[in-house]
Amino acid sequence: MSYRTHENCRACSWGPPQGPGGIKSASTDDHLESVLNLGVMPLPNAFRRNGESCPGHYPIDLVVCPRCTLGQLSVVVDPLVLYDQYPYVTSSSQTMRDHFDNLWLALNFEQKIGSVVEIGSNDGLCLEYFKSLGAETVIGIDPAQNLNKVARKRGINSLCSLFDRQSAEMARAAMPPIDLVLARHVFCHVDNWQEFINNIGVLCSKDTLVCIEVPYAQDMIDSCEWDTVYAEHTSYLTVKAIQYLLDGSALKLQGIARFPVHGGVIGLLLRRRDSDKPRSGTVQQFLEGEHCAMADWKRFAAKAWSQISELRDLVRTLRQQGKTVVGYGASAKSTVWANACRFTKKDIAFITDNTVAKQYTKSPGTDIPIVDEGALTRELPEYAICFAWNYFSEIYEKEKIFRDKGGRWIVPTPKVRVV
Ligand code: TYD
Repeated sequence: MSYRTHENCRACSWGPPQGPGGIKSASTDDHLESVLNLGVMPLPNAFRRNGESCPGHYPIDLVVCPRCTLGQLSVVVDPLVLYDQYPYVTSSSQTMRDHFDNLWLALNFEQKIGSVVEIGSNDGLCLEYFKSLGAETVIGIDPAQNLNKVARKRGINSLCSLFDRQSAEMARAAMPPIDLVLARHVFCHVDNWQEFINNIGVLCSKDTLVCIEVPYAQDMIDSCEWDTVYAEHTSYLTVKAIQYLLDGSALKLQGIARFPVHGGVIGLLLRRRDSDKPRSGTVQQFLEGEHCAMADWKRFAAKAWSQISELRDLVRTLRQQGKTVVGYGASAKSTVWANACRFTKKDIAFITDNTVAKQYTKSPGTDIPIVDEGALTRELPEYAICFAWNYFSEIYEKEKIFRDKGGRWIVPTPKVRVV
């Protein structure tokens, strides 16, 4: 089986006690509570061509820790199934370039950054950008063979490996003292956090700054971004949970920076416990402003179900009126929406995407074809659902012809609206 259940909280270990040899004792009611059970779902990035085999469906049940408020999935899919061939590439959109600029500025405000190790470096785009902004020595670590090739073509030194002790030691040996360890959108994909934090420790000297960029569970709850609940995202992080996790580890939480991309992300700034840098006031501010108790998670789930019905009903009504509806952006989120709403190509004629590796495949779990971006203006459908809603303002400007010819946008998140 390529997945296993995970019954204890990844941050604070809350859950049934593990008996000798890891066998569960049935003697307690302590458990993580299910708040959003989406049933079985395909892997959201498993875009396949006709005849290519599909890696199957997996239970997607978001469970929450009553002690530290962490959200996590009840199962963990084997990372080799998820990441061996991965079509997700860091978007080279203006929105992302702006984000890299902001990130670079925020990190250089902390200290001057000359050498960078990026964990989960994808196709090397962020490191390439950081080099252009002044980083002198960079190295990436990423398990996807296809993406490593692209990174190397870009001139980015890249280790093709999951991030483990061995790859951490190799990176450390290949680098001068490391100023920055960057992990963008990889932490919430990782199962064993203690091990991950320990391996980051291998890369750190007393002066190393660590930045772990993660989607923020508070933003996900507030903006009802339930469509980010899928197999790769094994955890939904709160600051309270990271506090529990780091308690007793070699790293401490020194500060938190907020960025507006991907529906709201935070950069957790960590340092070795023996670093002289004092903790910034931002940590306390976040802890005081956080409202991610069980009742908040449950309200979020209730809203998610009403959003699903709303989009399904809107699309079915439009189809009954003879209108054509398409999707824009074959994001992982698009797969979640299409499967939760049980859409087929009768509902959504196609989904456009500018990622070559996704074009002329099918949306995982449905028969909806993925096509090139130009299809929007070639076909001029009446409605397009923006499944890349995190880039909507950029896309809205870019697709002027669609608008001018009467096309209307449906933006599904944070609430279904027609623009
Ligand atoms: P993204 O939101 O980055 O991620 P996820 O898969 O985690 O939900 O995905 C956005 C998708 O939208 C990606 O496949 C690229 C595509 N896209 C376009 O097709 N055109 C665009 O102008 C932009 C900005 C994105």
